Amino acid sequence: MKSALIEKFQTIFGRAPEILARAPGRIEFIGNHTDYNGGSVLGAAIDRGVWVALARRDDGQRRLASDRRGQIITVPAARILKLSGAKRWANYPLGVLAAFPSFGLREPAGFDYLAMSDLPAGAGLSSSAAIELSSALAFAEAAGEQPSREVLVQAARHAENHFVGVPCGVLDQGVSGFGKNDHLVFIDCRGPRFELVPLPPGAHFWIFNTHTKHALVDGFYAARHRECLEAAQALGVALLVDVSPAVLAANAGRLPPLAAKRARHIVEEIARVAATVAALRDGNLVAVGKLLTASHRSSQHLFENSTPELDFLVDALVAAPHIFGARLTGGGFGGAVMSLASGKFDEAAAEPVAAAYAEKFGARPEILHLQTGDGAALHQP
Ligand code: GLA
Repeated sequence: MKSALIEKFQTIFGRAPEILARAPGRIEFIGNHTDYNGGSVLGAAIDRGVWVALARRDDGQRRLASDRRGQIITVPAARILKLSGAKRWANYPLGVLAAFPSFGLREPAGFDYLAMSDLPAGAGLSSSAAIELSSALAFAEAAGEQPSREVLVQAARHAENHFVGVPCGVLDQGVSGFGKNDHLVFIDCRGPRFELVPLPPGAHFWIFNTHTKHALVDGFYAARHRECLEAAQALGVALLVDVSPAVLAANAGRLPPLAAKRARHIVEEIARVAATVAALRDGNLVAVGKLLTASHRSSQHLFENSTPELDFLVDALVAAPHIFGARLTGGGFGGAVMSLASGKFDEAAAEPVAAAYAEKFGARPEILHLQTGDGAALHQP
């Protein structure tokens, strides 16, 4: 990947890059929609991601290219504006540039920039966080800045929230920034505070991507966000993280039924994240798997962000041998299911699941066997 990146940069811009950065995609392990409720979440950085190559320019011009789009986008130094159509991908790096001043970081004046990805698009593995983090690292290096990892993560999230316009929590950028091979990233999202939790040996991730996406997915995400904040307010707190399961049980009657369901999902999911950390520390993958599947059931019935396709895959996977547990991963309303499997689960074991899914829904899911990987880093050109 690295040599292909350098070669492509040379072809497009006629010179060698000075700076290389890479950031991984992520799997949401457990903690569904807990992040913007101030709760905790566990994620894994994976062995696929986005590379960025950059070389400075003296004329103040910013020229951006990606391996997936032919065209070079030229942005004048004066003002950063949001792009649309085929140029939309560039809103991620441009959003990071636009975020820099808010974090006291200088922007690089001019540059040639190339992004290259080996993350499958639309699989819910957060290619957006990967391009934001790799861009943030490369831009900071080009401007002679040395921000902390926390600041890089916050600048990347700022880009997503305020420039791209998605009201996401800190999960995606936090995991891409702080990930480590053979570890999960635990995030206490209120700080936010980041901590690594070792992944017990023999744990494998299998992703089944449905390639389905609800047409209104962004609207649904924002609606859940709003419902959670309203439920918190009705319970007299700013964020649902401040409601314990016991307090919720005693006060649920004060909430409209829908708000009570949403709140119960969040409050119990935060407790499941804590239980998962304890089970991981014990090396008990069977207990971890049960928590993952319980998380899915809660998304399915209480948070109502699952779909028939995702439910079908979870049912088929938990009935298959060598699977500890399975759940939807990411925002929901389509996307992918993640399963935690032992090393004995393989392509042959995945096949009946894919075949049964294809029979019911008319298309095979995309299957990915992923490893954990390291978080965002600069690399030698
Ligand atoms: C998306 C968002 C995250 C998080 C998850 C749901 O992936 O980007 O911030 O809210 O959904 O847990």
